[in-house]
Order: sequence, then C-alpha cells, then structure tokens
Amino acid sequence: MAGRALMQNREIIDPDFYVAHGYPHEAWAELRRESPVFYWDENENMPFWAITKHADITQIGKMPEKFLSGPDLVIRTDPEPPGGEFQPPPTLIQLDPPIHGKYRKIVSKRFTPGALRKITADIDRVAAQIVEGLLAEGDEGTCDFVEKVAAPLPIAVISWLLGVPESDWHLLFDWTNRTLGAGDPEYQIEGTDPGETARQAMIELFQYFTKMVEDRKKNPTDDLVSLFAHAEVDGKPLPPMDVLSYCMIIVIAGNETTRNATAGGMAALIEHPDELRRVQQDPSLFQPCIEEMLRWTSPIIHFARTATEDFELRGKTIRAGDKVALFYPSANRDEEVFEDPYTFRVDRNPNRHIAFGIGEHFCAGAHVARLEMSYAFRSLIPRIAEIEFAGPRDRLRSSLVGGIKRLPIRYKLHAA
Ligand code: HEM
Repeated sequence: MAGRALMQNREIIDPDFYVAHGYPHEAWAELRRESPVFYWDENENMPFWAITKHADITQIGKMPEKFLSGPDLVIRTDPEPPGGEFQPPPTLIQLDPPIHGKYRKIVSKRFTPGALRKITADIDRVAAQIVEGLLAEGDEGTCDFVEKVAAPLPIAVISWLLGVPESDWHLLFDWTNRTLGAGDPEYQIEGTDPGETARQAMIELFQYFTKMVEDRKKNPTDDLVSLFAHAEVDGKPLPPMDVLSYCMIIVIAGNETTRNATAGGMAALIEHPDELRRVQQDPSLFQPCIEEMLRWTSPIIHFARTATEDFELRGKTIRAGDKVALFYPSANRDEEVFEDPYTFRVDRNPNRHIAFGIGEHFCAGAHVARLEMSYAFRSLIPRIAEIEFAGPRDRLRSSLVGGIKRLPIRYKLHAA
C-alpha cells in the first residue's frame, strides 16, 4: 500500500524528520489520496490511525463523546516517561463531556467577541511595545525575527491577560519551551529525559501560580488568574489544582502556537514577495492575509483522540480504545476543500482552514491570536521596503508543534 511505503520513514510522526525537513506535505498528500484513514502500527509506543482529510478531522472533532481528548492528546514517539511524584492534573484541552463544557465556560466568557472588543486596545498597546522595539532599531538591519517579535509578542499578551508582571515574562518563555519543546535537545535539562524536563517546568509553573492565586483570592483584580481563582463549577469553587492547571493551559497553549504562526507568516511573505506587495497596496487584504498565514503555517501538527466504541470511517474500522491522530496541516492542504492548496494567496476566500481545530475543543484563544498577529503585521507590512532570509531557519524537534526556533532576516524599512 502506498501509505505503508511512505510511512517506512515514519515522517509524519518522527520529530527528527520535522527538525530536518519541516512538514511532510508529500507524505500527507499521498495519504489523503491513497489511504486517508491509515493505521500505523509500527509506532511501538503508541500505534495510531493517521487521519489526513479535512472532512474526517471535522467529523471526529465534532464527536467528543465517541473520540475522547483524555488521557492521550498526543501520539507518543518516545517510550513512556517513568512516573514521577508530580503528575499534573488534566487541563481543559484534555477534559471530555460533560465536564469539559462546564470548565470551558469559565474562560469563554472572557474571550467572546464582545469581551475582546473591550481589550483590543490593550492588546494593541502590549503588542506595540514589542513591534516598536524592532522598528526603533533603525531603517535597516539583520535580526532573528523569532527573538525580536514572534516569541515576545504572545508572551507579553498572555502575561498581560494572566496578570504576570513584565519582570517575570522570561519565566513563561522558559516554561513553554521546556514543556512543548521537551523533546528538543536545546531545551532538555541535562541528564534528564523529555518527560522529566517537562515535569520540572510544570512544577516551577505551578509553584509560581500558587502564589499568584493566593494573592488574587485576597485581592481580586480583572486578570485571568483572578477569574480562575474565584471561578465556580456546579456552584462550588474550583479545586486548587484545577485553578493551577487552567493557568498552565493558557501559558502553554497561547505562546508557542502564536509564535510559530507569526514567524511562519513572516517566512511566507518573504518567500512570496508578490503577495507581500499585494497586501501592501491593498490594506483590505490584511485580514485575509492573516487567515492565509494560519492555513499555511498550521502550527499544531496533530492532536490525538481515543475511540470509545468501534467506528467505521471510509471502509476502515477504528476499534474502541484505538488512538487517532488528527493532522491539521494536512487538512489545510486538502484539494477537496482548497483551490490551489499549495499556493500562498493573501486574498484566499473562502478560507475554511482548521488551524485552530474544530468542534468541541476549538481553540479558546483563536481571537486573541488573531488580534496579536493582526497588530504585528498591520504595523510591519507597510514599513517593509526589502526583506530576505539572512540564514537558514532553525526548527523545533517535535511532531506536535511545527516550531521555528530562529528565523534570521535582513530588512530595509520605509521611513516611518
Ligand atoms: C495561532 C495560534 C494558535 C493556534 C494555531 C492554536 C491551535 C489550537 C488547536 C488546534 C486547538 C484544538 C485542540 C484540540 O482539538 O484538541 C486549541 C485549543 C486551545 N487553545 Fe489554541 N491555538 C492558538 C492560540 C491560542 C491562544 C493565544 C490561547 C490563549 C489565550 C489558546 C488557548 C487554547 C485553549 C485554552 C485550548 C483548549 C480549548 C478546549 O479544550 O476547549 N490558543 N488551540
């Protein structure tokens, strides 16, 4: 079978492939064509069904009772880490119905379009601090775009939302790298495995937020830590560990993803200078351009689900207990949904990408991410006179997040 020949390299799940080559679009295209529901039993640590079509991922995402997010949201490629003393509780993203909806309501109140309208000006103000830092360095230069803009931008916004003071932003950066990037040697604590690296980062994060929660209980404010500290489910206060895991999911989910959409979006503009000129000449294309960046970069490579009962899909039987992996970047190149899926088009319309997932667990921070990226590119795009890569990009070793660790660029700006 074609899928099996392709998968001999394990590329769609192999973190080493991602670090060396980026996304395996050829393998995904062949799987979509030849074997869209494909069982890969040679991933010793966790055999799984690879789901690569937009329609199938959409269907599974909308059946949260049949396909659970807990306990395994990620297909493990490394052996199971030894159980340590500290086992973090499940976060929102791993909860299943009916409890998931009750917990999700806590944060979704804060992220409705109406509530976000009130904080758009604040997000612009926080983002301006970062973007203006780059623009203030003169009208030409060389920099690592990740270090200057793509990484600090979401950290600043998430910190501001949570109520973390600027002096501690670097801690959030470090915790995100060590949890989502635990499989990358650059972030691994020497002498430990990825599981231990992530666990230690989570302990530090929990200790930090324990103090913040205690403070907000006594002195309520408008920030998210205060919201979680005072939240109730079924008329009862949230257990202390759940308050902390809520803080953790906001830190972890909101940083690395937006970082990579922003860095990957900038890389796409450099690789497509004609599209950059089009959006410079027509500001009405800014918003469609952001959506195209999200489709093009699809920063989450996969999330997994566990089937609760046998399920037929395209003639294959997914058995109860089987794992399925939803490959969002593959769905976002699906020829049945997107015209010219391999062309980056800033005026793409419609653009039904699922970079933020679909169904029950649709990204709670999607509008926050859009606001951050819109601000950054609205400020930067009109100023770009010339831009090119100043070296190769450095990728994260991960088959969960398509991370860009460094993106060296050389630029000339139009005068302000
Ligand atoms: C471009 C940036 C982002 C991308 C590509 C992204 C992607 C995703 C995806 C694919 C999911 C679905 C998970 C699933 O189906 O299992 C998700 C869920 C989630 N995201 Fe995002 N995300 C981004 C930014 C953010 C931001 C900025 C925040 C917080 C402010 C955030 C918070 C969350 C939360 C809390 C969930 C869990 C929702 C639930 O389980 O109900 N994300 N995200």
